[in-house]
Amino acid sequence: MKKYLVVLTGAGMSAESGLAVFRGSNGLWSGYRIDDVATPEGWERDPQKVLDFYNARRRELLQVKPNDGHKGLASLESDFDVCIVTQNVDNLHEQAGSHRVIHLHGELMKVRSTCDENLIYEVTPEHMDTRIGDVCEKGSQLRPHIVWFGEAVPLIEAAIEEVEKADIFVVIGTSLNVYPAAGLLRYVRKGVPVYLIDPNPVNDMSGRVTHVIQKGASEGVKELSRILRGGNDSK
Ligand code: OAD
Repeated sequence: MKKYLVVLTGAGMSAESGLAVFRGSNGLWSGYRIDDVATPEGWERDPQKVLDFYNARRRELLQVKPNDGHKGLASLESDFDVCIVTQNVDNLHEQAGSHRVIHLHGELMKVRSTCDENLIYEVTPEHMDTRIGDVCEKGSQLRPHIVWFGEAVPLIEAAIEEVEKADIFVVIGTSLNVYPAAGLLRYVRKGVPVYLIDPNPVNDMSGRVTHVIQKGASEGVKELSRILRGGNDSK
C-alpha cells in the first residue's frame, strides 16, 4: 500500500511561477490593506475595490504556469497517495496534474452568491472580471469565492481529517502566520516525519517540524522526492 503524503502549501509554492507572496517587503500586503480587500467589512465599504483586486489577481494567474515544485508534487502521485491542502487560491496544483487539492482559502477562478454560499460559479478566461451588477440566479451580487479574514474556513475539518491520516507531512512556502491553516501541524500524528521547504527561516510554533529543506519550492520538492523515493523518510 502506498504511504499517505499530505502537503500544506502557501504562497511561496507559487512564487517561482511569478505570483507574489503576501508578507515581506515585496509582498501583496505591502501594496494593499488586508482590511480593504480581504475582509467582509472591506466588501461592505467598497465592493468595487474588492472586485478590482481579485479581477487583477485573476489576470495575473492567466499569465503564469505551474513551476517544477507543483509538477514534482503531482509526479509524487506515482509512488504515494497525495493530498494537497493549500492556502493558495490559484489553480496551479491542478494545472500541474495534482488530483486531490483542498483549497482552504477558496478559489480565484470561482465566484459565489452573496445570498447563498452554495451557489458557486466557475469563472472562464473569456469572462474573468466580476462587476457590480453581476448576480447569481437568485438575483444577488456575486463576490469572489475567497475566505476572507474574519470568515469561517469551511474546509478546515476536511483538512484536519486528512492530516490526521498522514504517514508523511510536508509544509511548503507558508510563513505559518495564518490560522487555522498553521494549526494543522498539531494534528500530525506523533512519529510522523514533517518536512518544511522554504528558502527562509519559518517560525514553527507547533515544534512538529523534523526536517528542514532550506530551498525554494522547485529545488526543495526535487530534494524531497529524492529523499522519499529513496525510502529515507525517517519512519
Ligand atoms: P506568506 O506571504 O505569509 O508566506 C510565504 C512564504 O513563502 C514565506 O515563508 C516565504 O519565505 C516563502 N517563500 C518565498 N519564496 C519561496 C520559494 N521560492 N519557494 C518556497 N517558499 C518561498 O504566505 P502564506 O503563508 O501563504 O490568505 O499566507 C497565508 C495566507 O495569508 C494566505 O492564504 C492569504 C494571506 O493573507 C488570505 O488572503 C485569506
